[in-house]
Amino acid sequence: MGIRVIGTGSYVPDKIMTNADLEKLVDTSDEWIRTRTGIEERRIASADQATSDLAVKAAENAMEMAGLTADQLDGIIVASISVDHVFPSTACIVQKKLGAANAMCFDLEAACSGLLYALEVGHALLTAKKHLKRIMVLGAEKMSSLLNWDDRNTCVLFGDGAGCIILEKDDSTEDCFIAGSLGANGEYSDILQIPAGGSACPATQETVANKEHFITMAGQDTFKLAVNSMVKVCRKVLEEAEMDASQIAWLVPHQANYRILKAVASRLKIPEEKVYINVNRFGNTSAASIGICLDEMVRGDHIKQGDYVLLTAFGGGLTWGAVLMKWSYIPKTAK
Ligand code: UT7
Repeated sequence: MGIRVIGTGSYVPDKIMTNADLEKLVDTSDEWIRTRTGIEERRIASADQATSDLAVKAAENAMEMAGLTADQLDGIIVASISVDHVFPSTACIVQKKLGAANAMCFDLEAACSGLLYALEVGHALLTAKKHLKRIMVLGAEKMSSLLNWDDRNTCVLFGDGAGCIILEKDDSTEDCFIAGSLGANGEYSDILQIPAGGSACPATQETVANKEHFITMAGQDTFKLAVNSMVKVCRKVLEEAEMDASQIAWLVPHQANYRILKAVASRLKIPEEKVYINVNRFGNTSAASIGICLDEMVRGDHIKQGDYVLLTAFGGGLTWGAVLMKWSYIPKTAK
């Protein structure tokens, strides 16, 4: 019995925000943003688009590739920090919009590592539960709704979008999950966070006036911890799989910052041409980024059947993870 990916999908909003647009909002420059982050532009959702709307579009693309109807889904997991509401879960709203009446639904929060956490949980559920056959894993974010557009330290970094991966259990296939590892360190929970709005600091007029409902980040600390954690967890996963980095066809890191991606690849001795990068076009889309990458890679014919693909992410919490997959199946509808 194995679990394979039978469909991928992604969606980014039409509206492009360039670095030049940001120059009009905060004291920044195209040159600073490009050289420090590699970001050239990002997508911004419209006022009437919630995170679930982005997720539904990515889900529909993935279902079309997989040749599935919504009623064939047994589960929907949405990884997101920009959920539609504190509750009900965004997964339940996605279920309603898709008409996926047979799916159990829940949200999972591990910030930018959310998609990898959701993939591992989805894989574990399919492995453990006989009656589950197909689980849809979504990373979806309307990061623009969490940004303080006066804070140049953060507002230039993020973008909106969604990525979807549908997992299916099949008796006749090898498992495409070769190895995986997740980690966290709550000691650093305050270096990347939204200070107010939860039970620790409920919304008041004061928290709103102080803009405490938006993302704050200690950039340099986050940078160093990101590189170290991703390198360490990738090495652990390669060791578990008894594989060498030279066997990896693609490294797909969470798209936080071009300099972070370069540093991780270089320390793992993976050449840059094997690293998938789209941070220049979409910025940091948090839990959505790896799903968007994978969908572009499948549809763009970058991933070949049999490729070893190493996914790695890092985010608030702190959280991190790596998942090594052997891409055993590419549907004809992917092209
Ligand atoms: O998704 C996972 C979590 N997030 C990350 O992984 C992000 C990790 N961190 C980073 O990517 C980088 O630390 C940043 C891109 C956020 C910042 O780059 P940096 O090279 O670490 O810059 P810095 O924070 O050391 O700031 C350097 C200078 C500061 O000015 P002073 O104090 O030296 O005068 C900042 O105030 O750059 C200034 N600065 C800016 N200048 C122009 C910060 N943001 C901007 C900006 N435009 N947007």
